[in-house]
Amino acid sequence: MEPHDPGSPGEPARFEVGGNVFYNCDCILGAREFVAENSVDLVICDPPYGIRGDKLHRHYNRSEEFVVDGYVEVAEPDYGEFSARWIREAERILRPGGSIYIVSGYTNLYHVLHALRETRLEEVNHVIWKYNFGVFTRQKYVSSHYHVLFYQKPGGRRTFNLEARYGLGERAEGGGSLNYRDREDVWTINREYKPGREKNKNELPTALLAKMIQYSSDEGETVCDLFLGGFSTAITAIGLNRRAIGFEVSPRIFERRTREISALIPGFLLPGARRPVRGPAGRRGQAWTADETERLLREYGRLRAQGWGKGAAVERLGSEFGRGRWSIERVLKRAHPPGGPSPGPGGG
Ligand SMILES: C[S@@+](CC[C@H](N)C(=O)[O-])C[C@H]1O[C@@H](n2cnc3c(N)ncnc32)[C@H](O)[C@@H]1O
Repeated sequence: MEPHDPGSPGEPARFEVGGNVFYNCDCILGAREFVAENSVDLVICDPPYGIRGDKLHRHYNRSEEFVVDGYVEVAEPDYGEFSARWIREAERILRPGGSIYIVSGYTNLYHVLHALRETRLEEVNHVIWKYNFGVFTRQKYVSSHYHVLFYQKPGGRRTFNLEARYGLGERAEGGGSLNYRDREDVWTINREYKPGREKNKNELPTALLAKMIQYSSDEGETVCDLFLGGFSTAITAIGLNRRAIGFEVSPRIFERRTREISALIPGFLLPGARRPVRGPAGRRGQAWTADETERLLREYGRLRAQGWGKGAAVERLGSEFGRGRWSIERVLKRAHPPGGPSPGPGGG
């Protein structure tokens, strides 16, 4: 482990391939010098945890010999100030409406939350990422989660691709909505066990990063990771046809990973990425059957009873039934003519 010494970026090693740019330097000084204000669409950061003797990675790496050496830690007493400095930089480079995801363990979470509160960034969700390979214990519960803090920069439209992965009408076998399930704020995603392959300490799984990138950015947009480590964010971003930029202070880690990056083909993850299966769009323009009408009214009543607003319910049903907004509204109006009994919450 090397000590954390920001120093000056000076002339850091810079690696550019296909419009993706990476710097081998401290991210705070580097971002200030090389990344323009309001220029990044999405920031994903997994900062060092500031835990002396952090051994969690041993549980899923199993063999230390494949863990790339050179990880730079932050001393515990510096963690608060360190968090405040890099989070201010992240706020500066994000575009108005841009999103940031920060992965944090529990020990120093309070520093990260405090630093966020000192900025203008606004909380969107506090996600729990549940992983496998938790540390086995006998006298207490097994620790098997991280915190993912999802925030936005105010002042612009935030990208949130509601149907990035599952259409609103897609159902699981038991009838539950797959889109709803995918958007719950507890994510169960396994770590990748890569026997015999070189990896960074605490490498994040592609599935976790892909989820953030798919929901919170569009193809061609810029994704920045201030703590590249094994470059997993950059690799996933390039794989999903986004532009990646980032920083890694450790020369050893940087050198190892930049070699791999050159071989990547932009968009290589897209063929295997989950895509939404849209509702039966072919129903547009066709007459409503009695059965379909009955199902629509039942679903509408259920959504309203759950507190959905009329507009949101109509939009969701449009996607589920493969119908336009006016078509849905016409059927609802026929069933609930103005002046008739209210179809509001609890009603049908
Ligand atoms: C938790 S790891 C990131 C792991 C990465 N998300 C992955 O999936 O492989 C944190 C990384 O930040 C690097 N680091 C520590 N301090 C830094 C700084 N001030 N600027 C840039 N990188 C830093 C460490 O060397 C380490 O590789």
